[in-house]
Formats: sequence, structure tokens, C-alpha cells
Amino acid sequence: MKTHNIPVIAIDGPSASGKGTVAQRVAAHLGFHYLDSGALYRLVALVAMRCGVDLSDETALSKVASSLDVVFENTEIRLGNENVTEAIRAEACSNSASTIAAYPQVRSALLARQRAFRQPPGLVADGRDMGSVVFPDAVLKIFLTASAETRAQRRHKQLMEKGIDANIATLLRDIRERDARDSNRDVAPLRLGAGTGLLDTTSLDIAQAVDSVLKQYAQIGGEGRP
Ligand code: CDP
Repeated sequence: MKTHNIPVIAIDGPSASGKGTVAQRVAAHLGFHYLDSGALYRLVALVAMRCGVDLSDETALSKVASSLDVVFENTEIRLGNENVTEAIRAEACSNSASTIAAYPQVRSALLARQRAFRQPPGLVADGRDMGSVVFPDAVLKIFLTASAETRAQRRHKQLMEKGIDANIATLLRDIRERDARDSNRDVAPLRLGAGTGLLDTTSLDIAQAVDSVLKQYAQIGGEGRP
């Protein structure tokens, strides 16, 4: 099958909007593959921080990006032999990921790796530029968002459930800073592009958001697992 015949559902949106959970559930429902593109930026940040690579050294960071020894297996992310699924979610990694994601060389070093996830029968990809840059021919493009306050509350709940102490005001400030960085950068900024449907989940739960994406996909004649 030619790659462009393999359907892609692109789900982009700001931090803590729930797009990862929604994208994963949509993929599971349709029997599609799933790409968590943010994990790649987080992995580059993790390796860079561990190896002492300066976060302002674009060339060194792009070398880290092109040589990542990563395996995605079900919900587990492995770097070499190490399970880093939890380590890359740390707030330090989130902030560094958003800093290094502004570098064009880092973004282009990750491009082929992301496109390789497009395998039959289809792919659900989540990130910031899935519909605009990585898969511009995606059959369905969704911009999934929620108010910054709602997103901070969701992240807080998530962290508390993991036993991690967090402060809503600090989380809200971090979310706003990251929103500003991701939306105002020159390369692949987070934006609601033409042909992309807005899905505001401020007053929707995960199941309702998943349902909305599946309905939109069915409306355009999309098919998943029989
Ligand atoms: O889970 P959360 O939405 O907070 O973050 P993420 O999707 O894991 O992405 C982490 C960071 O990577 C974001 O703040 C973006 O700066 C960057 N990123 C990006 O630039 N492009 C993507 N396609 C995905 C993530």
C-alpha cells in the first residue's frame, strides 16, 4: 500500500488538553497505530539533560534527535534497555522539550522518524504540527483544546493520582508559558490551521471527546477495524 493511501487522523493541541489520551483511545477503537510525537521531543530533552548537552546548542541537540535509540512498544517507551515512560513525563523534561522544540534542525531530524509510524491500517498522531507539517494530507485534522485553568486542574489531578505534589498556580503558570512558547515560535507553531476542526473539551469528558473524533471520522467515510 502506498503511504499516502494510509489514513492519518491528526490531533494537535496545547499542553494538558487530553489529546494523548483521546488519540490513544481513538487509535485503539479503530485498530490504528498511535504516534505520541511529544514523546520524541521529551526524549531528546532527557538525553540532552543527562549528557550535559547545552539546551542552546541546536546542532548538538539535532545530533541527539537523529541518533535516539528508542523503541515504542504498546504503552512503554524504551531508550536502549531502559524504560523511560515515566522519566520523560517529569516537569523538567516538559519544559526543556518545549525549549528545544523551537529549533528547526531538531524538528527536521525527527521528521522521518515520525512519518515511519504511518503503517496500515492507519495512524492516529498527536502533537503540535501533525496536521500542518508532518502529515499535511491527514484525512481528519482536529485541534483539541480546553481553557488553561481546566488544563491546569487536569494536570494537577493526574500528578496527585501519581502521588506527586503539585501546586495549581504553578502548573497554570507553566502551561501558559509553554502555550506562549509553542504558539509564538517561528517554526511549526501551534495554531488552528485551515481545514482543522476545533474540539474544545473544557466541558467534555474523555469519552465524549473520543466519541466526537470517531463521529467526525465516520462522517468523512473513514473506516477502522471491522
Ligand atoms: O503532554 P503535553 O501536551 O504537555 O506535551 P507533549 O505533547 O508531550 O509535548 C512536549 C513538548 O514538545 C511541547 O511543549 C512542544 O513544545 C513539543 N512538541 C512539538 O513541538 N511538536 C510536537 N509535534 C509535539 C510536541
